[in-house]
Amino acid sequence: MADLTLNNVHKSYGATDVIFGIDMAIQSGEFCVFVGPSGCGKSTLLRMIAGLEDVTAGEVQIDGQTVNHIPAAQRGLAMVFQSYALYPHMSVRQNMAFGLENLKMPRAEIKSRIEDAARMLQIDELMERRPAALSGGQRQRIAIGRAVVREPKIFLFDEPLSNLDAELRVAMRAEISDLHSRLGNTMIYVTHDQVEAMTMADKIAVLRKGVVEQFGRPLDLFNRPDNRFVAGFIGSPAMNFAKGVVKSNAVALDAGAVVPLPEGFTTQEGQQVELGIRASHMDVAADGLIDVQANMVEQLGSESYVYGKLTDGTSFTLHQPGQVDVQSGTKVRVTPRPDMIHLFDASSGLSLRS
Ligand SMILES: Nc1ncnc2c1ncn2[C@@H]1O[C@H](COP(=O)(O)OP(=O)(O)OP(=O)(O)O)[C@@H](O)[C@H]1O
Ligand SMILES: [Mg+2]
Repeated sequence: MADLTLNNVHKSYGATDVIFGIDMAIQSGEFCVFVGPSGCGKSTLLRMIAGLEDVTAGEVQIDGQTVNHIPAAQRGLAMVFQSYALYPHMSVRQNMAFGLENLKMPRAEIKSRIEDAARMLQIDELMERRPAALSGGQRQRIAIGRAVVREPKIFLFDEPLSNLDAELRVAMRAEISDLHSRLGNTMIYVTHDQVEAMTMADKIAVLRKGVVEQFGRPLDLFNRPDNRFVAGFIGSPAMNFAKGVVKSNAVALDAGAVVPLPEGFTTQEGQQVELGIRASHMDVAADGLIDVQANMVEQLGSESYVYGKLTDGTSFTLHQPGQVDVQSGTKVRVTPRPDMIHLFDASSGLSLRS
């Protein structure tokens, strides 16, 4: 169990800057997820925390102590990689014991830690096998086991499930959450997967181009995104955006409709904005405010998706419970639920919520 603090952390590779002053405070025992587009710096940040990369400027602190110059092996952290990184010539047992033997831990202690981890992760049967004789899911479980036996203060996971098939991912996701609730350790987990981020995290950090765009609880990010980027990144299907201009207490969309603004936004007359509305936060009605040309309708029985465009060509997706009476190639009218509307300044992208 440990706190982790990042103070104005920067990273450059030669003349290329990739992390631009990240501040973050992760509380002891928290499960923190890093998400963001490919190349935004998630792995780099994790590797700096682990001590596998130098910190160019700023501080990484564990329990209040600056660890910038403490070698990876002495930070009390354990990292699990997407690629498993198991030693192919060693058995599962040897893979798990190796790091502990390097620490000169007594044999009996190593044996008991491995037995406990093997029982917890249900890998008892696999202990004498080599990695080549294991499935992807089993290998990932061994990689997690190897981290568990080190009894780290903080676990670091870099997309640990992305090489697994969908079914196995769901099972392993539950196992890692379960591991977290049993061990209570601080965990930092990088993923591309929306569902993993929303369901596993106590806190999510959304990164973009080496900067944290927002850091908070999953539902706070979903309900109150600070900016257009976070609004478009968190949630699936992605939020719909429609450009427009503020007129009186409404937004006149480029697509023609005029959408009244509820209270709670600070706007200026004539301000260029983007209205944000999630696919499931609209009602279909004959007298709806916004015209949507429905290009494709997916009826899944218990829910339906309509993929279409506004009159100015902006893509627009609708998600309704149950079955909708909409045909592909026809027009449908929708009204955003007023309390579910988001509004962003068109140039800064910042939320205009008061
Ligand atoms: N050793 C290196 N030398 C130079 N540039 C690097 C090096 N390692 C990473 N980068 C650059 O740093 C940036 C961040 O890379 P990083 O691997 O942290 O991204 P990521 O968010 O983990 O992406 P992904 O989701 O694809 O794994 C990228 O632009 C990458 O090209
Ligand atoms: Mg990465």
